[in-house]
Amino acid sequence: MKNTTVKIAPSLLAADYKNLEKEITKVNNGGADMLHLDVMDGMFVKNISFGAPLIKSVREVCDIFFDVHLMICDPIRYIDSFVDAGADGITIHYESTSEVEATLDKIRSCEKKAGLSIKPGTPVSVITPYLNKIDMLLIMSVEPGFGGQKYISATNEKIKEAKALIDNCGRNIEIEVDGGINPDTIIEASSAGADIFVAGTAIFNAYDAAEYMNTLRVNAQKARDNV
Ligand code: DX5
Ligand code: ZN
Repeated sequence: MKNTTVKIAPSLLAADYKNLEKEITKVNNGGADMLHLDVMDGMFVKNISFGAPLIKSVREVCDIFFDVHLMICDPIRYIDSFVDAGADGITIHYESTSEVEATLDKIRSCEKKAGLSIKPGTPVSVITPYLNKIDMLLIMSVEPGFGGQKYISATNEKIKEAKALIDNCGRNIEIEVDGGINPDTIIEASSAGADIFVAGTAIFNAYDAAEYMNTLRVNAQKARDNV
């Protein structure tokens, strides 16, 4: 029972921070399905982005689904803060904690969508014990930490493997892919079975973000329909 429509998730990481409200309105009005919010702590990844206070502020100007991607160590400590800030879905990294199950339970107990993410070097099989706890699997197609990197094509095989595992378990778990997505790579990822596509640099640097998102959507949908 897979969702049949694809979703486009612009990553705020690549926005012009001095014009945040304008940038968010641009992608919201331009047809984004959700806003992807990359939280980095400078420990789990070698970069620091933003935290719950910023998310709380942008929540006031945008009512779209907030897809919060936590690239932080021991995320269980901060789930309440991100729920309070207005997250609709919270994704944690498998590699970021020894308490994966407890953290997913915590997110679910707050009635938010729970996501689990794996880095490019982490095998898909690690998700098996958590399939009954997640609503979304985020497969990183670049090393987490920075926008503007090149899509790792080995991701396609991981998406296929994940799709097989998910189909087999019978739950409706969406597969999200994050990093290096553009009108070409989205075709590969969508044919492989991804449902949600995160793109930062490409969307926010586009001359016309709405048109660019539409191109992404059309390419992804065509690739999916042709499988
Ligand atoms: C990387 C982040 C991504 C990133 C995507 O750690 O999780 O969401 O911002 O950016 P682009 O689309 O520029 O690769
Ligand atoms: Zn992300």
